[in-house]
Amino acid sequence: GTVFILNGPNLNLLGKRQPEIYGRETLKDVEENCTKLAAEHGLSIRFHQSNAEHQIIDWIHEARETAIGIIINPAAFTHTSVAILDALNTFEGPVLEVHISNVHKRESFRHHSYVSLRADGVMAGFGTQGYELALLRMIRLAGLQPV
Ligand code: DQA
Repeated sequence: GTVFILNGPNLNLLGKRQPEIYGRETLKDVEENCTKLAAEHGLSIRFHQSNAEHQIIDWIHEARETAIGIIINPAAFTHTSVAILDALNTFEGPVLEVHISNVHKRESFRHHSYVSLRADGVMAGFGTQGYELALLRMIRLAGLQPV
């Protein structure tokens, strides 16, 4: 099985961008950690980042045909995008939402998530480890390994 891990705007700058909030690990580091963890459980991942809303929607559509689940950090689109919510609502497998920072500790505009109306679970404030924790949950949901 394949899990899609999708990342929204500005996450290409992870490691350099506001490290006091998002830490020093890069998105490449996150991808490597997730690839390793997935392989240990017999899963493969497709890891993507885009600053463009339409690109993220296109990947969700692609996931409909090829993925057992989606892990998504929609970044700022979390708080704005009905279109990404609608796309996720066309996907039948589990959807897990990840935020590196604890969005609830931050500005009030970050407290609302359109994506949470669809997500089966949300990780927030676990740093970049949140991706791996979400992946472990995905493995459990997929019934592949008792984690
Ligand atoms: C974020 C939180 C969002 O509010 C913000 O716009 C981001 C990153 C996080 O991972 O903590 O870009 O999704």
